[in-house]
Amino acid sequence: MAARLPKHIAIIMDGNGRWAQRRGHSRIFGHVRGTSRVKAVVREANRLGIRALTMYAFSTENWSRPAPELKVLWRLLKKYLIRETEELHRENVRFRVIGEIDRLDPEVRAVIESSVRRLSGNTGLQLNFALSYGSRRELSRAARLFADDCVAGRRRPEDMNEELLREYLWTSELGDLAEVDLVIRTSGERRVSNFLLWQAAYAEFFFTELCWPDFEPKHLREALEDYSRRERRFGGVGPKSLAPPEKFAKL
Ligand code: IPE
Ligand code: IPE
Ligand code: MG
Repeated sequence: MAARLPKHIAIIMDGNGRWAQRRGHSRIFGHVRGTSRVKAVVREANRLGIRALTMYAFSTENWSRPAPELKVLWRLLKKYLIRETEELHRENVRFRVIGEIDRLDPEVRAVIESSVRRLSGNTGLQLNFALSYGSRRELSRAARLFADDCVAGRRRPEDMNEELLREYLWTSELGDLAEVDLVIRTSGERRVSNFLLWQAAYAEFFFTELCWPDFEPKHLREALEDYSRRERRFGGVGPKSLAPPEKFAKL
């Protein structure tokens, strides 16, 4: 297995609809299959010792989908949490949600809150679901909360810096785990779709043609193998660049 593991993986679970339509089914069927894939990937990440896994399950933009599709998506989420929480507990998984939780149906919120409570004492994988999540919403909200704190006299404008901004994000409770190391996107699309723009500022990206309902633990391991071969330089010079500068010495 990969020698160098990412601490935090974020997955854009895309392609449920196309997966189903290519097989002559409705998009809904793709969501059902897609939801059933989550369990094995979460378990594998935990088994491998990944510390945080954030799954993009519903974006702020996804609210524009037809009402029947929205209904199915939230029902599937509820069912997943009701069915899997005890298993997640046995696996020592901790659970959180990032996004506009206030916008969700109270019934869905109650199920989420119950799972978060049940799993809050665990110390294994930190599993995060991004629900009604959008980075632009997260960042504009952070700006508003900071402005409120300034008006109330709790902060001064000159206090703002990168460290402080992190405290106003939905990922604040993750501390230094909020930084994403690897983003995986399924379905062949190569875009971020408003996902973790701040937290993934220096992430590595892995794109696969597979649609989410076809994504299995072995594909996660493939992504990790690929990641382990990347050289992350963070704007500096990597070890390979530190070799003797023979050519330049002659200039
Ligand atoms: C991802 O699959 C699930 C959600 C965004 C909720 P899609 O529903 O986006 O499937 P495609 O991309 O249309 O195939
Ligand atoms: C991104 O997928 C959101 C989730 C996977 C939850 P979308 O299917 O909504 O993104 P676009 O529309 O292709 O950018
Ligand atoms: Mg999509």
